[in-house]
Amino acid sequence: MRDQLAKIKEEAVAALEAARDLEQLNEVRVKFLGKKGLLTGVLRGMGGLSAEERPVIGQLANEVRAYLEEQLETRQESLKSAGKESRLLVETIDVTLPGQPVVLGKMHPLTTVLEEIKDIFMGLGFTIEEGPEVETDYYNFEALNLPKDHPARDMQDSFYITAETLLRTHTSPVQPRTMERLAPRVPVKAIAPGKVYRRDDDATHSPMFHQVEGFIIDKGITFADLKGVLLTFVQQMFGADREIRLRPSFFPFTEPSAEVDVSCIMCNGAGCRVCSQTGWLEILGSGMMHPRVLEMSGYDPKEVTGFAFGMGVERIAMLKYGIDDLRLLFENDLRFLAQF
Ligand code: PHE
Repeated sequence: MRDQLAKIKEEAVAALEAARDLEQLNEVRVKFLGKKGLLTGVLRGMGGLSAEERPVIGQLANEVRAYLEEQLETRQESLKSAGKESRLLVETIDVTLPGQPVVLGKMHPLTTVLEEIKDIFMGLGFTIEEGPEVETDYYNFEALNLPKDHPARDMQDSFYITAETLLRTHTSPVQPRTMERLAPRVPVKAIAPGKVYRRDDDATHSPMFHQVEGFIIDKGITFADLKGVLLTFVQQMFGADREIRLRPSFFPFTEPSAEVDVSCIMCNGAGCRVCSQTGWLEILGSGMMHPRVLEMSGYDPKEVTGFAFGMGVERIAMLKYGIDDLRLLFENDLRFLAQF
């Protein structure tokens, strides 16, 4: 039996050495050390031994088992780390390969133009006001001298949410909101940029677009102030050699009212396709604040006067960059956006 044990030990050590991976190692363990393995087999034959020999062989068998288990563990560790190393060799990073290029994003042209507009007016001392995009009928229309059933409501085909709330059709409701908050204090000198919504959809109209409202209220504000502010704005936005033209117009909340045109930035006023041969491009609506509008929001029209204007940001961006379809601004096609 001693010989058998010695032989098993020898064979097992050789088999451990020969195992190439953890799976083969496990097979070796089952074969020699398992419940039905060779070592157990030898022990089963111990019944035929003398009383003196039995404990001696038993101890020897235990020693062999302990030795083999230790060897197995050592071998298992070395196979495991060899596995890691070989994987490391395969996965080594080639630091000389060129890196993944990082594509830098930039501002959307509308954002750029909006920031420019804000900068210009902040430079002129205007503050920035905000109002909600879901607006009440009162601020969107009534407080702007557009009572219910006023025909001029048709100029702005609207998205109603309830009978009394709608998506604001212009930024003008920020006028009464600001006046109510500040009245009767003067001067008021503010712009109100933001999104507005109308039921329009074609190459020059989108159901959502952006406007910048502007208004000044103080003692002695005149039409000349309106013209001076807008000329300054236009020249800073489109270049010092631009001119403006004021055409009589109508808005229920301004009196008198004027549409403001800028001399065509493509042809300098000579007449071209962009300005339909007129030499002028319409950029905003404006006028002196209607006395009733001032009054409704807490100002005394005999004490103070004011002017207001509202411009479309998309229109300014289209003119500035020569974009012929407004929808391009909202499609988020990088081939288009990357040009700005
Ligand atoms: N709110 C008008 C519009 O959207 C523009 C405007 C604003 C006109 C302020 C006059 C004064 O068409």
